[in-house]
Amino acid sequence: MAADAATALLLRCVVITTLLLPRAIAAYVYGDSGFGIPRNSTERFLYLQNQARADVGVAPLAWDGTVAAYAEKYAAARKGDCDLKHSGGPYGENIFWGSAGANWTATDAVASWASEKQWYNCSDDSCDAPGGRGCTHYKQMVWAKTTKVGCASVSCDANRGTFMVCEYDPPGNVPVLLYYYYYYTTVVILLLVLLLLYIYIYIYIYIYICIKKYIRIQTLYTYVLKKIK
Ligand SMILES: *[C@@H]1O[C@H](CO)[C@@H](O)[C@H](O)[C@H]1NC(C)=O
Ligand SMILES: *[C@@H]1O[C@H](CO)[C@@H](O)[C@H](O)[C@H]1NC(C)=O
Ligand SMILES: *[C@@H]1O[C@H](CO)[C@@H](O)[C@H](O)[C@H]1NC(C)=O
Repeated sequence: MAADAATALLLRCVVITTLLLPRAIAAYVYGDSGFGIPRNSTERFLYLQNQARADVGVAPLAWDGTVAAYAEKYAAARKGDCDLKHSGGPYGENIFWGSAGANWTATDAVASWASEKQWYNCSDDSCDAPGGRGCTHYKQMVWAKTTKVGCASVSCDANRGTFMVCEYDPPGNVPVLLYYYYYYTTVVILLLVLLLLYIYIYIYIYIYICIKKYIRIQTLYTYVLKKIK
């Protein structure tokens, strides 16, 4: 009986170890978020966001030193208060705040932004989000015209938590259709103005030629009249 119990216990230990060891090794090698996900914060920000893009068939972003330097600078500026405020800079910007007492990583920030995907309908660019939430963070992450990204994270002073920011270049969430609408409307108006100007000048020249012709005819007429007399 005792031998049976010992064997059972040993078997259970072997099974548990076999099941848990790979997970423990993976957690050590890759960090907290599973297989294949980089431990390095820079690489993880890039990897996870490019995964979100690949999921909807959008080309990957490239990490950019200048953009990342801006993100670092802005994160450092928020170190004192950890406020969820935008920098108002030249790039598209996603921000994240996590309360003190947890080890927030790029995975949490990207997951928080990506969670908006459930409300977003790409076919008509509509967002069916509950009050206080939107789809702009997700849209910025997968914005097709954005090519460069740079992110930073800072642990705020006085136990205020963690602040993370990603900057995107060129910025997303710009009204592309409206832009083209205004662009083409302006071009059409300009062409109409040119056409009117052309018609005006044409009529002016035509009238001028007619008057000159008329004067010439008149002159000829009086000349002939004189000769006849
Ligand atoms: C993280 O990865 C980036 C890009 O590969 C590298 O430049 C940086 O030094 C790495 N950081 C750490 C702490 O290893
Ligand atoms: C955060 O990480 C530190 C160091 O790796 C660890 O000591 C601490 O227990 C972690 N805290 C939480 C809430 O996971
Ligand atoms: C998304 O929008 C399209 C076009 O308006 C609509 O046909 C489709 O049903 C919508 N999809 C969902 C999941 O609401």
